[in-house]
Amino acid sequence: MRDSSLLFKVRDQSGSEVWCFDAEMITLVFTSVLAGLLALLLYQRMSYPFFWVDLIYYLKLRRYKKKLQARMQQGIMTYLDCFLYQARKKPQKPFIVFENQILTYQDVDKRSNQIANVFRTEASLKQGDIVALWMFNEPDFICVWLGLCRLGCEVAFVNVNIKAKSLLHCFQSCGAKVLVVSAELLHRAEEVLADLGDSMTVWVVDHTSPSDDFISLLDKLEHMTEETVINPPNMNMTSNFLFIFTSGTTGHSKAARVGHLKAIVSMAFFHMCGATSDDIIYITLPLYHMSASLLGIGGCIHLGATCVLKKKFSASQFWKDCVKHNVTVVQYIGELCRYLVNQPTVPEERTHNVHLAAGSGLRPDVWKEFIKRFGKIKIREGYGLTEASIGFLNYTDEIGPIGRASYFNKLSMPFELLRYDPQTYEPVRTDTGRCTRTQIGEAGILVAPLTAMNQFLGYAGNKVQSERKLLRDVFKAGDIYFNTGDLLLLDNKGFLYFSDRIGDTFRWKGENVSTTEVSEVLGLLDFIQEANVYGVTIPGYEGRVGMAAIVLRRDNQLNGTKLYNHLVKTLPAYTWPWFLRIQSSLDVTETFKQQKIKLVQEGLTLHVTQDPLYFLDVNQKDYIPLTLSLYNDIVSGKINL
Ligand SMILES: *[C@@H]1O[C@H](CO)[C@@H](O)[C@H](O)[C@H]1NC(C)=O
Ligand SMILES: *[C@@H]1O[C@H](CO)[C@@H](O)[C@H](O)[C@H]1NC(C)=O
Ligand SMILES: *[C@@H]1O[C@H](CO)[C@@H](O)[C@H](O)[C@H]1NC(C)=O
Ligand SMILES: *[C@@H]1O[C@H](CO)[C@@H](O)[C@H](O)[C@H]1NC(C)=O
Ligand SMILES: *[C@@H]1O[C@H](CO)[C@@H](O)[C@H](O)[C@H]1NC(C)=O
Repeated sequence: MRDSSLLFKVRDQSGSEVWCFDAEMITLVFTSVLAGLLALLLYQRMSYPFFWVDLIYYLKLRRYKKKLQARMQQGIMTYLDCFLYQARKKPQKPFIVFENQILTYQDVDKRSNQIANVFRTEASLKQGDIVALWMFNEPDFICVWLGLCRLGCEVAFVNVNIKAKSLLHCFQSCGAKVLVVSAELLHRAEEVLADLGDSMTVWVVDHTSPSDDFISLLDKLEHMTEETVINPPNMNMTSNFLFIFTSGTTGHSKAARVGHLKAIVSMAFFHMCGATSDDIIYITLPLYHMSASLLGIGGCIHLGATCVLKKKFSASQFWKDCVKHNVTVVQYIGELCRYLVNQPTVPEERTHNVHLAAGSGLRPDVWKEFIKRFGKIKIREGYGLTEASIGFLNYTDEIGPIGRASYFNKLSMPFELLRYDPQTYEPVRTDTGRCTRTQIGEAGILVAPLTAMNQFLGYAGNKVQSERKLLRDVFKAGDIYFNTGDLLLLDNKGFLYFSDRIGDTFRWKGENVSTTEVSEVLGLLDFIQEANVYGVTIPGYEGRVGMAAIVLRRDNQLNGTKLYNHLVKTLPAYTWPWFLRIQSSLDVTETFKQQKIKLVQEGLTLHVTQDPLYFLDVNQKDYIPLTLSLYNDIVSGKINL
């Protein structure tokens, strides 16, 4: 009558049926459940050791999403809303510390109001107007930006290194009608003033203006009321918030649209890395890049924390500043960390209070050295793009990967790695025209489906380039994926590694260099017939340094001085070709792209080619022949690039 269930029926004395537990059975079941659980845990540890961190991170993301939704219901939807919320909540809290100034949230609130009032009354700026901002890191970068946000203007950040012709192109391509410049950039603005004509008014962030061509912003500010700009612009999550110039992975620099959604999601960065409102965050990266403006300042606003802003990164001042301002969190890019570990030791590098470094592009070798020298600092390595919302954050204790491809991660942010053709870097299509996923351990192109959360708003005035970033009919007819142009690799533990950036740009000193742009500039010189620009790796350096294969015009010689002078006038230094390879002809039997790949592979290896190689010596302002000893001095760091 006993069966092997936990409960069984017996008849009591009165004859009615009652349920009884079988104590022995229960013990048995419990022990086996326990054993099973233990086995499961063991199994999970062995085959899925990151289950808990993955899950915890996922739940954190979910919590953030909930919080965001709750805030949105209170009407806090945009970057600006988020700032205004903190300014109401903690007006007296220091927001920006810059040199000897301290601005509280309230100070920035008031000043940005005044600026909004100036632009509204004096320039009649209104919602939808586009304003180019060409400024160095300083508190007024943020005040002007937020002021313009109050009016509903879309701001376009312009790189301060940019020169002459590219500058004009930037202003025109985004359709800006007003330009705001730092006082220090005035002389360079003057150079292009004539070409701008009447299409643009130029404001200078200074108390005086050198001529009638410029309007002084600070002069006007003094008499302006702090009265709140009352008509908060109505906008939605898909409308455009910002333009950020990036060369992206193909072609010239373009104004990438950044939507409100992307901006507000970016603001969670420090929070997701584990920072709190008590942290003091050190930002040395340029604000015209997304990492400093959206992740950095935005991340700080989201927490209601204090930001120590530096005009320009200085490796020798870095730890001194951290100690002086009691910095607890720093934002980095890989190059910055490499500069730091290459610095002579200072006492401050061990006495600081920094507990977290968050950023991207840190290489494992540098990271190990970083921790060894600068103490116990938690590192959070991420990956993100200006144009799309796809991003990863490294939240485990593994060295090297940029993120994880866990089941949970893919739930919140789907992506795929696609097989590609190593010659063309295009995704491989099967007979039926579909793409295929890579296998574990094989590098593939990172693509992400376009969804409500992953928007791509395209580049301003550049439909062709916008379309080139999209892949259609990837796994089924009609699907659309954003092509990041980055090669990533997935290992058998589910870690993602950055492998390379493809396309006709390369990364150097934290910037993207457009090879098309540099080739065109070189082509303007009378002695150059053809130029093929690419990036090559050098041991001990992050990214790739610029190199150009050049064919000289008949009966012409290389004039290094002339080339140098031309570069100084036209291009920022990080884009310069530091190495030249003089060829008698660009190989015609191969396609342009194939030849480029071969050149890149041969790089600076001196013995593979008979072609003369040159190196740009900035002291001599000339290109000099590249010898083996010169090459060794560059690799050993004796000559700094
Ligand atoms: C959001 O704003 C954009 C323009 O800024 C507009 O094209 C779009 O239709 C709007 N969407 C909704 C849902 O209102
Ligand atoms: C470089 O290009 C990538 C891909 O287009 C972009 O997401 C990133 O923001 C760019 N970086 C800079 C510093 O412009
Ligand atoms: C620096 O920050 C730490 C940690 O937040 C705090 O305990 C300490 O009191 C601060 N020191 C100063 C001088 O502000
Ligand atoms: C990932 O995060 C862990 C934990 O903070 C860190 O030890 C590791 O260096 C990080 N990886 C990279 C590439 O930064
Ligand atoms: C190189 O160009 C400069 C002008 O920029 C000129 O003065 C100089 O004579 C040229 N040198 C040679 C060797 O042709």
